[in-house]
Amino acid sequence: MDDLRDKYLAAIAGAVDEAGLEEVRLTALGKKGEISLKMRELGKMSPEERQVAGPALNGLRDEIDTALKARKAALADAALDERLKGEWLDVTLPGRRRPAGTIHPVSQVTEEVTQIFADMGFAVAEGPQIESDWYNFDALNMAPEHPARQEHDTFFMARAEGDNRPPHVLRTHTSPVQIRHMAEHGTPTRVIAPGRVYRMDMDQTHTPMFHQIEGLAIDRDISMAQLKWVLEEFCRAYFEVDHVELRFRASHFPFTEPSAEVDLRCSWEGGQLKVGEGDSWMEILGSGMVHPHVLSSAGVDPTEWQGFAFGMGIDRIAMLKYGIPDLRAFFESDLRWLRHYGFSALDMPTVSGGLSR
Ligand code: PHE
Repeated sequence: MDDLRDKYLAAIAGAVDEAGLEEVRLTALGKKGEISLKMRELGKMSPEERQVAGPALNGLRDEIDTALKARKAALADAALDERLKGEWLDVTLPGRRRPAGTIHPVSQVTEEVTQIFADMGFAVAEGPQIESDWYNFDALNMAPEHPARQEHDTFFMARAEGDNRPPHVLRTHTSPVQIRHMAEHGTPTRVIAPGRVYRMDMDQTHTPMFHQIEGLAIDRDISMAQLKWVLEEFCRAYFEVDHVELRFRASHFPFTEPSAEVDLRCSWEGGQLKVGEGDSWMEILGSGMVHPHVLSSAGVDPTEWQGFAFGMGIDRIAMLKYGIPDLRAFFESDLRWLRHYGFSALDMPTVSGGLSR
């Protein structure tokens, strides 16, 4: 008994970590441990022998158990001390400054455009970026076989195996917000809808994600003349010039009839864009009178209501106004680029106070 005690107490004292200690515990007190086996032998002893050996063995087991627990606590303390020594932190050191960012040109321009249209009585509407194909296409007068669907280079979301419903898409334009907004709020209405859109395309002037701003005005007697005035007012305010000239070029969109692409008179002298003068025309948006089918899709009676819609690329007009040559840099999160082209957080664009300063 004394030999056993000496052996195990020495082993416990000698264990250098918790794994080693656990090994000692198993050899002594585990199911097949030495002490456990000895206790099982008690059954074979005569009652007299058992009366002596029983309490002695119990005492030894308790003693070893206590020693194990004490050693375990000591090892844990030592491990914690070791960690604390390794992980100390000098809280009196000066903090490291987070790099200062700027307001991204897309955010700034979105805010500028929103301010201009707010001034003309347009509210802001929003819709989801993951859209059903019904909102992105069907409701906009593009049935499943419509060839215009192919031109959109659509990203499709995966459906679960065996689910044969048409897949959701990453919206290819902000036009589905027209449907959602009219279906929810009815008519008359005047809204813009800025946001992200997605198409599979990538070069100096295309990125797979970009930004559009949709415009929608529906009432009983809205006409193309009003579309033209609104866009002219917008361009004068946005490009901060007194005079602009727009050219409406007949075009085709499934969701407008008639449709027009709108060009802005400008000149490029020495790479410098001048709006309102010169011999060049620059396309800035697509527009038209909302197609009766689109109104019907949104639950609006086309015999009673009509209006215009337009869609404009935010990134593109940001590049034009602020002379930014490559669209891809917009989304590279390069701090040097942001410091050059970004805006101060305190620059709140307002129509009366100046948009860009
Ligand atoms: N949705 C069209 C596009 O992405 C733009 C547009 C919007 C044209 C509204 C007409 C009316 O190209």
